[in-house]
Amino acid sequence: MAGTWRLGDRTVNRMGLGSMRLTANPDTGVAIRVLRRAVELGVDHIDTAAFYRTPGGIIDAGPGPVRHATELIRAALRPYPNRVFIATKVGPDRRPDGRWAEADTPARLRRQVEENLRRLGVTTLDLVNLRITRQIPAQALAERFGALADLRAAGLIRHLGLSNITAEQLDVAAPIAPVVCVQNAYSVDLRRDDDLLRICRERGIAFVPFFAIAGRQREAGAAGEQSGALRRVAARHGVTEHQVRLAWTLHRGPHVLAIPGTGDPAHLEQNIAAAGLALTGADLAEIDAAG
Ligand SMILES: NC(=O)c1ccc[n+]([C@@H]2O[C@H](COP(=O)([O-])OP(=O)(O)OC[C@H]3O[C@@H](n4cnc5c(N)ncnc54)[C@H](OP(=O)(O)O)[C@@H]3O)[C@@H](O)[C@H]2O)c1
Repeated sequence: MAGTWRLGDRTVNRMGLGSMRLTANPDTGVAIRVLRRAVELGVDHIDTAAFYRTPGGIIDAGPGPVRHATELIRAALRPYPNRVFIATKVGPDRRPDGRWAEADTPARLRRQVEENLRRLGVTTLDLVNLRITRQIPAQALAERFGALADLRAAGLIRHLGLSNITAEQLDVAAPIAPVVCVQNAYSVDLRRDDDLLRICRERGIAFVPFFAIAGRQREAGAAGEQSGALRRVAARHGVTEHQVRLAWTLHRGPHVLAIPGTGDPAHLEQNIAAAGLALTGADLAEIDAAG
């Protein structure tokens, strides 16, 4: 494994699991197997959101019975082992007309927190990330983060984080309440947050990249075709390019926590194995040079 990181008052393994892809398979038994196997293999940091659902969620696998990632987690893991740390997020808000907006009032944010509590079947959320769009004014960010800080003070949330933010936005939120993690899109081919990653390390804040495997393909998922550098490094180590992409993020600093998203039991095993993949200085230079 890639070692551990202190996330708030808990220590978690740096290789975690993202749950956004778990709803894609209409056979929910597969998602439950993935979750249980992940925990069996040492995963103790699981990322989720109440809006990871299908149909009607971010990854919309089309019609069929509603499947919520949060409820799959509950079905698979409750009673939760003490060491399992579940990070969720609030912000994106699907309005009744189907339009995506942002939870922009304390009441809307509270409703989302309560939905997470209910679907996960817990009385306190380990961690809630406020997921925003980078364009929101500082005042709006301060109000929303302040609303979550109030819910934390009320005992509904243990720790707070931020998602999809800039360094300036971190500076707006951090004086309001402790920020234990920043969750942003980041991969070998999505590197606009190199500076923010460094700032997080300096401040002891976990940096949790999403799209580490999908990269520029984003919600569309993993690309079949990878760069020549990734192919060569993967061949040298006898692993897949996707494993190299994941390992590369973990080599960006001891504070980087991976949350690869998969609904495929074989991919899960590969991703966990990637935590033990030691890339050399030459490997990293070759990947960086390819951009
Ligand atoms: N804060 C935010 O705004 C935000 C946004 C997006 C995601 N997230 C979180 O971050 C997590 C990671 O993001 P993500 O799931 O979108 O992207 P990702 O982890 O970069 O990649 C997931 C894609 O890669 C595939 N995959 C996973 N492991 C693989 C392997 N070993 N070999 C080949 N393909 C593999 C998955 O398909 P299979 O299912 O077939 O394996 C899926 O298509 C999410 O699950 C979610 O928890 C947060």
